[in-house]
Amino acid sequence: MIKKLKSTQNLSDAELLELLESEVYDEELRKAADELRRSIYGTEVYIRGLVELSNYCKNNCYYCGIRRGNTNVNRYRLSKAEILECCKSGHELGFRTFVLQGGEDSYYSSELLCEIISEIRAGYPDCAITLSLGEWPKQDYQSFFEAGANRYLLRHETANTEHYGKLHPANMSLENRKQCLFNLKEIGYQVGSGFMVGSPYQSTANLIEDLRFLQELKPAMIGIGPYLTHKDTPFNEFKSGSLKITLKLISILRLMFPYALIPATTALGTAAPNGREQGLLAGANVVMPNLSPVKVRKDYTLYDNKICTGEEAAECRYCLERRVASAGYKIVVARGDVIKQ
Ligand code: 5AD
Ligand code: FES
Repeated sequence: MIKKLKSTQNLSDAELLELLESEVYDEELRKAADELRRSIYGTEVYIRGLVELSNYCKNNCYYCGIRRGNTNVNRYRLSKAEILECCKSGHELGFRTFVLQGGEDSYYSSELLCEIISEIRAGYPDCAITLSLGEWPKQDYQSFFEAGANRYLLRHETANTEHYGKLHPANMSLENRKQCLFNLKEIGYQVGSGFMVGSPYQSTANLIEDLRFLQELKPAMIGIGPYLTHKDTPFNEFKSGSLKITLKLISILRLMFPYALIPATTALGTAAPNGREQGLLAGANVVMPNLSPVKVRKDYTLYDNKICTGEEAAECRYCLERRVASAGYKIVVARGDVIKQ
């Protein structure tokens, strides 16, 4: 199966089911993914400076710690000046991609976001600007793009309609989520999607549907991480997703999408102390250290025990430098665009 996956970049549903349900994460699978990654991207690891601009959110996704219904969150918003300050220190630390991520917060109007994006674009012409700000009308995605944004992250979360309905309230739909992703592609963004591994009610068949959806979308970036419990959500009784299955999926993703930019996510690093290093060894080639002001970090908690909430931006940067090196790879100062899709 590994040989077939390597040579055809695909497997049948039955084969994927067998691979995903087997108890082992075969070293051969990991090696095949790592070899392919090295043949395309070498040992380079791209870094993205993550600026968590707001933890207000109008949505109420059942898995997420900053959902509207959680009254235990200390809500914050960063001003334009604070966001630009993050970019300034980030640029000095060698970041050439800034990711503006936040809840769906109507305080940031399309106009205000365009202003922020334009100022970053003018101040850092050598950098990529990535947005991770949820669902918007196509017209607004277009305006952000024209203001200077290059990439957009929007996980589909699950590609099965029924499962989507179990993770989200009725006012959200998979159909709309998919439409947003195709709109973003059409506009010209490098698009990132992805899903949580081990989210409540997820079956192996659902994971296969996630892979099939990604084959249809052909994203430039694919972010996955284990679902992690948050104590103040309706899902607080569900256990966290498996690290091993997440790593296995990273290897499968690398073999299916040789050129994809795949992050070793913060959720992976939260699931195990060396989770991100293991993610890199499984085929990931991106890490996304936190660039947010230290005073707000502990308030952006999508799940319990999130790492990197106490450190300074510089500490996180150098911590990751060591971690990446310990796994045998090397952080590079570059925009890190996708080579081809
Ligand atoms: N566990 C793991 N990942 C989560 N996300 C949100 N809540 C959780 C959680 N409890 C992920 C979602 C979202 C991304 C920003 O974080 O996939 O798209
Ligand atoms: Fe943030 Fe290590 S990467 S503390």
